[in-house]
Amino acid sequence: MAEINATLTLPTGEVVDLPVLKGSYGPDVIDVSGLLKAGYFTYDPGFMSTASTESKITYIDGDEGVLLHRGYSIEDLAENSDYLETCFLLWYGHLPNKEQKKTFVNNITRHTMVHESLAHFFDGFHHNAHPMAMMCGAVGALSAFYHDVMDIRSDRDREIAAHRLVAKMPTLAAMCYKHSIGQPFMYPRNDLSYAANFLYMMFGTPCEEYTVSPAVEKAMDRIFLLHADHEQNASTSTVRLSGSTGANPFACISAGIAALWGPAHGGANEAVLMMLDEIGSVENIPMFIEKAKDPNDPFKLMGFGHRVYKNFDPRAKVMKASSDEVLAELGVNDPRLAVAMELERIALSDPYFAERKLFPNVDFYSGIILSAIGIPTSMFTVIFAVSRTIGWIAHWHEMSSSPYKIGRPRQLYTGETPRPYKG
Ligand code: CMC
Repeated sequence: MAEINATLTLPTGEVVDLPVLKGSYGPDVIDVSGLLKAGYFTYDPGFMSTASTESKITYIDGDEGVLLHRGYSIEDLAENSDYLETCFLLWYGHLPNKEQKKTFVNNITRHTMVHESLAHFFDGFHHNAHPMAMMCGAVGALSAFYHDVMDIRSDRDREIAAHRLVAKMPTLAAMCYKHSIGQPFMYPRNDLSYAANFLYMMFGTPCEEYTVSPAVEKAMDRIFLLHADHEQNASTSTVRLSGSTGANPFACISAGIAALWGPAHGGANEAVLMMLDEIGSVENIPMFIEKAKDPNDPFKLMGFGHRVYKNFDPRAKVMKASSDEVLAELGVNDPRLAVAMELERIALSDPYFAERKLFPNVDFYSGIILSAIGIPTSMFTVIFAVSRTIGWIAHWHEMSSSPYKIGRPRQLYTGETPRPYKG
């Protein structure tokens, strides 16, 4: 991989050769792993310039607004594929043929039920517990059911763990919702698609027949697909770091869910809707724009900006088109939509946002669609977690199937120097 070296002159005058690694696409990477021998660490808070791993799964070019899964663009997948096929692609590295797809869909469908004992866990949660809190607990609890039977060094065991996770996440997500509204849990229905089954478990009741609208089913599938993976983001890196200790994969995914919850990451979709409610009407937008620009005010425009995308978020483009389709199809007239559209317009024409390359991200539009479908705001990040599970577990698998080291960052210590104990 290394073809040339970079050289670094240290304050001591020593010159260190650092191999430059070439990827298949995108920027070259300077391998600094040998620097410790010269007595130095590198320093990069927030991993602004640091590649934490080698990976073949997802590629992002933030300047050009490119997102590729295994070489296929997100626009292409959103147009021509579906969520489960994209899950297959992320895990196995290639698109399935017809037979492979059928087998994969069947495998996922046959793993959708959770152990009956797991249902009792929910009794321990107050009805108004945040669904993300319940998800962290419920997914972590899955490890209790599949710990002794799971050998993380076995390819087949890792594959079964992935099937179980992708299959059971919608069931657990819907259980969180049902618990919060005091309705009975709905068992999964194997005759429905992944998206339709999720909607059925969310909105169906034992009292009457529930039919899923094809437009809503398609929109739900697309939301799952658009969130399936996103390279080494905070939650994926958390899953990799947890996995590097050899921990149980279900526990690692629970750690990923915790990382996703924050409003700077997956929690932004919930935060967008709360912000739109807070803004209330179009006349109030200028005041909120001023707040967002004020360096002394912690308020940020939720759904704007991205660590990597500095031109546009390609997922946001597809999501916006989807949101237009769904709203027209459902005939939804949500006043928050007017606020969202005007906010977008003003922010995009304001130099503050242009100079900092702050554009609407995927979460700006996903909340609007989810809300139109009737999903409560507190469930938005849970849906992100359901979608991202395949990305998390595919990265965990990629790491676990080759030699790896425990993740152990170092630090720039600025605390006390040695001093004698004085009581
Ligand atoms: N509203 C107002 N100002 C902002 C915003 C915003 N949403 N985002 C960044 N800025 C400003 C920030 O204050 C800073 O200004 P200055 O240079 O004057 O100090 C500048 O833009 C650079 O921002 P940063 O915080 O250094 O950028 P970052 O790469 O560390 O953070 C981010 C990226 C996504 C955490 C941040 O843009 C943000 O908090 N956005 C709102 C939350 C959000 O929508 N998150 C979802 C991300 S997409 C889904 C996902 O992948 O999880």
